Amino acid sequence: SKKPVRVAVTGAAGQIGYALLFRIASGEMLGKDQPVILQLLEVPVEGPQKALKGVMMELDDCAFPLLVEMTAHSDPMTAFKDADYALLVGSRPRGPGMERAELLAVNGAIFTAQGKALNAVASRDVRVLVVGNPANTNAYIAMKSAPDLPAKNFTAMLRLDHNRAASQIAAKTGKAVADIEKLTVWGNHSPTMYADYRFATIGGESVAQMINDQEWNANVFLPTVGKRGAAIIEARGSSSAASAANAAIDHMRDWALGTNGKWVTMGIPSGGEYGIPAETMFGFPVTCENGEYKIVEGLEIDAFSQERINITLAELEGEKAGVAHLL
Ligand code: NAI
Repeated sequence: SKKPVRVAVTGAAGQIGYALLFRIASGEMLGKDQPVILQLLEVPVEGPQKALKGVMMELDDCAFPLLVEMTAHSDPMTAFKDADYALLVGSRPRGPGMERAELLAVNGAIFTAQGKALNAVASRDVRVLVVGNPANTNAYIAMKSAPDLPAKNFTAMLRLDHNRAASQIAAKTGKAVADIEKLTVWGNHSPTMYADYRFATIGGESVAQMINDQEWNANVFLPTVGKRGAAIIEARGSSSAASAANAAIDHMRDWALGTNGKWVTMGIPSGGEYGIPAETMFGFPVTCENGEYKIVEGLEIDAFSQERINITLAELEGEKAGVAHLL
């Protein structure tokens, strides 16, 4: 049987953590033949540490055959030791009345510390997914704080936006969500993201031609996907957790096990593709194979798309400038 891999998860006692850990332990992320060791990080505060113990009691009670070991941590230097995968879920999202500078400063502190810890103790091949918001900028901070690790191994979660877009398209066309190919979301995980179905197909047929309604695209589809997080909070009384955890599973599974040529969206450091400045943590269409992602290149960017890409890029560049002094 396979050698166990070490999966570190931060914010492990939070609501996404609760929807995520059981699926990692059951093999949905890395395969039903891949034993895992969970290394769970929470803040060094009594309440969350106690809640984490409770989650671990439930993980025990599932008797997952693939879960060979798990440990609780309050220090990233021990939580990330030899980690092969790190899912950085815990962060400080923007609260009501919170200033942007405060948000960036608090997360700057968290993600510089976690980036440095990954740099010091994680596997040299560690694959990192940042879920905690602002996800792209937090991933950028962690990457810049880990100079000895490959920059390409730091990624941000755009997959929830991708899956939300796929679901809206399936509803609009009346087709199966599973049959949608070549969909992508460009940019920041925020309402400025640009979900782009110009290249998408269903059963080989063009989605853009099937829908053939630019007014719907600009005024219904994009706002619906962009504001979906707020709509979930409004309806459920708390933020998306199961769908966020599901997207994290999808992102890591596809990265680790491959997509068979299918496009997915990942937030990754730009190598200058599509005019996105190098190192900007940006949502791109990718395919994955042998544990590596590859940007889908050579797509035509029309005027409408360029405008949307410029907006989401400007927002990201603003966030990047706001944390420059922390790095
Ligand atoms: P939550 O508040 O239920 O849980 C977060 C947990 O992280 C808490 O238990 C907290 O104690 C812990 N935490 C905070 N700072 C930490 C640190 N420095 N080290 C370790 N643990 C830490 O929040 P929830 O709902 O689980 O969401 C987590 C994050 O994911 C939020 O920032 C949220 O905005 C973000 N999110 C991102 C999405 C995406 O698509 N990228 C989608 C949905 C949520």
